Amino acid sequence: MSEKSLAEEVFEIVREHHAFRSCSLNLIASENITSREVRRLLTCDMGHRYAVGFLYERMYRGCEYIDKLEELTHFLARKLFRVEHVNTLPVSGTVANIVAIGAFTRPGDTMMGLSVMDGGHSSFREVSRYHGVSMVPIPFNAEEYNIDVDQTRKMIAKVMPKMVMLGASELLFPQPVKEISETASNVGATVVYDAAHVLGLVAGGCFQDPLREGAEVVTGSTHKTFFGPQGGIILCKRQHGENIDRVALSMINNHHINRVAALAYTLAEFLAFGQEYSRMVVSNAQALAESLYNNGINVICADKGFTRSHQVIFRVEEGTALEVSKSLEKANIITSMTPLPTDKSEAMASGIRLGVQEVTRLGMGRDEMSLIGSLIARVVKSPDSTSDVKEEVKDLVGRFRSIHYTFSDNEPAYEWD
Ligand SMILES: Cc1ncc(COP(=O)(O)O)c(C=O)c1O
Repeated sequence: MSEKSLAEEVFEIVREHHAFRSCSLNLIASENITSREVRRLLTCDMGHRYAVGFLYERMYRGCEYIDKLEELTHFLARKLFRVEHVNTLPVSGTVANIVAIGAFTRPGDTMMGLSVMDGGHSSFREVSRYHGVSMVPIPFNAEEYNIDVDQTRKMIAKVMPKMVMLGASELLFPQPVKEISETASNVGATVVYDAAHVLGLVAGGCFQDPLREGAEVVTGSTHKTFFGPQGGIILCKRQHGENIDRVALSMINNHHINRVAALAYTLAEFLAFGQEYSRMVVSNAQALAESLYNNGINVICADKGFTRSHQVIFRVEEGTALEVSKSLEKANIITSMTPLPTDKSEAMASGIRLGVQEVTRLGMGRDEMSLIGSLIARVVKSPDSTSDVKEEVKDLVGRFRSIHYTFSDNEPAYEWD
């Protein structure tokens, strides 16, 4: 095969991906879809450039408009999140966590965070390990599906961590930020809240407001419930700004400035539409959970109203979560597995985690959630139904072809090239 045909094959593969995704129902809780303008900005010349150094104090020349852009981005983020300081260097949520752990701990220190089995992200465990910091798991109450406040307070007093990392990858309910922050401040620990998943809901005022509840720093991904480009962000009180900026700059030489342009546009979209969107996300998640439950699926936390975020989690009762996620994929319903606190190990995960933020951005509402719940239940109960369900999925997504909660109407969702 010639180099040219190999190069053309790249386009072919991407076209096939688009064709597949445009007739699938994406319920991965950590993804979303961007507006056409955000996608345009991702291809701009700034994606070819460096801007090493602090704002207006660059080591490279040629950054006049990049400085203007970053100043505008920080202004928009400060306004949206009502925060004193912003850092947009992290190219992902994991990188934002690396910076926060680097800023508030030294090798030999102790930090606390949820274990992966209880919904914590692997970056808490892995980054602390590489940084020579021991991570003590935050005690979790599996029945409440939330942090065990009393046990956590005792543990903080005992291990005297330098940092407590709140937030999680499986996050159905607001966490007790206020209670944990009070105890953490008694031992001089900095509370960081990882809002990777719920950043869009925090921005829209629909989940919890960690900075006003006691957290001093928030890290996040800008592409999950926050429907921006893939990337990371750090929000913090003024007194931590210099430390965060210094550590971020020492670690991140290349921060993908086209991403910053796309992020700035999304911040403006959120200022205009974020409240309406995030209210709809939470309402849709609750509607999907109810539908699944009414169709006989073991949705967790039924006694607590299932969820207050974008996520819905159900326990697989027959077969494995891996098998069920594969059957759903055959019906063009894209989901992911997740370990539940009572599972024996991460490898033996029995949960399926769903997120409704992308389908909400396509304009779906509670009626569609009710239909999706019944389609999922049919596949879970009888995997033979996948081909029938697939046709219904195609029909459903065929009716929702454009991006909502943005400045122009009828923006095509998955079309490309
Ligand atoms: C709680 C949490 N933190 C951090 C991350 C990592 O974010 P990213 O994929 O942007 O690196 C994730 C990823 O899903 C997450 O769930």
